[in-house]
Amino acid sequence: MTDIDIRSRYDFAVALVREAGEHAKDFLRDRAALEVKSKGPQDLASAADLSTELLIRSRLGERFPEDGFLGEETGATDFAPGQGIWVVDPIDGTQPFVSGLPSWCVSIGFVQDGEILFGAVYAPALGELFAGGVGIPATLNGAPVERHPGQSIREGITGFGYSPRISADQFLPMFSRFIERGGMYFRDGSGALMLCNVAAGRLLGYVEAHINSWDCVAALAIIRAAGLETNDFLANDGLRKGNWIVVGSPKVRAELEAVRTGS
Ligand code: IPD
Ligand code: CA
Ligand code: CA
Repeated sequence: MTDIDIRSRYDFAVALVREAGEHAKDFLRDRAALEVKSKGPQDLASAADLSTELLIRSRLGERFPEDGFLGEETGATDFAPGQGIWVVDPIDGTQPFVSGLPSWCVSIGFVQDGEILFGAVYAPALGELFAGGVGIPATLNGAPVERHPGQSIREGITGFGYSPRISADQFLPMFSRFIERGGMYFRDGSGALMLCNVAAGRLLGYVEAHINSWDCVAALAIIRAAGLETNDFLANDGLRKGNWIVVGSPKVRAELEAVRTGS
């Protein structure tokens, strides 16, 4: 894929994430009537989630039929070696979305040959669009982002992700180390948005014991474009199985990695 092919996909993703976000937001006009299903403990999907993913999938299928697709609600196409893959969460932060809170977003990332190339994340209720990628600066509403000046978890707030995919026995020792070492946690129900808030210098870093690729691939591209570090999320088939995640400046990431492993 040439740089022009990648750039045309990036530009398309930035426009599409906005269109999809407005489409999802329309479902909130009558939130009481929104159909919501449970997929498991504390894991919801509303009619807006499916409808928004179908919109994104069909737009991408029309414009880039040669690309693969992986979405939270409709699953994956078959992937051929070297093929570009769109990684989509139609609504990240479904619990805030159905609860009338503003911390939800649409997340569209692009991966090829095991490399995360770019991402676009749009939070309609906040009016914020984050984007960036390899060779593309990280931006918030088109303006360059600035990094958090903190060099330790004691110097700001850290996004601390949790889902019931992780047991209390796995979560609590890590959380306890974080508190003992002077960290302060922040959770708003959207991993993608918290990760973008790391890129934008609002949060120091982010850690979660397990997150899925559709939650984080787009934001990881933006974080790297902002000059921050992440673990190799796609290792060990992270695209399909998910993985742990630790991000921040080199020092904060090292500190959070030690919190995660107990070293
Ligand atoms: C979840 C959110 C949450 C994160 C979970 C995700 P959903 O996604 O991003 O913040 O901790 O790992 O599953 O269910 O809102 O799309
Ligand atoms: Ca999600
Ligand atoms: Ca979702």
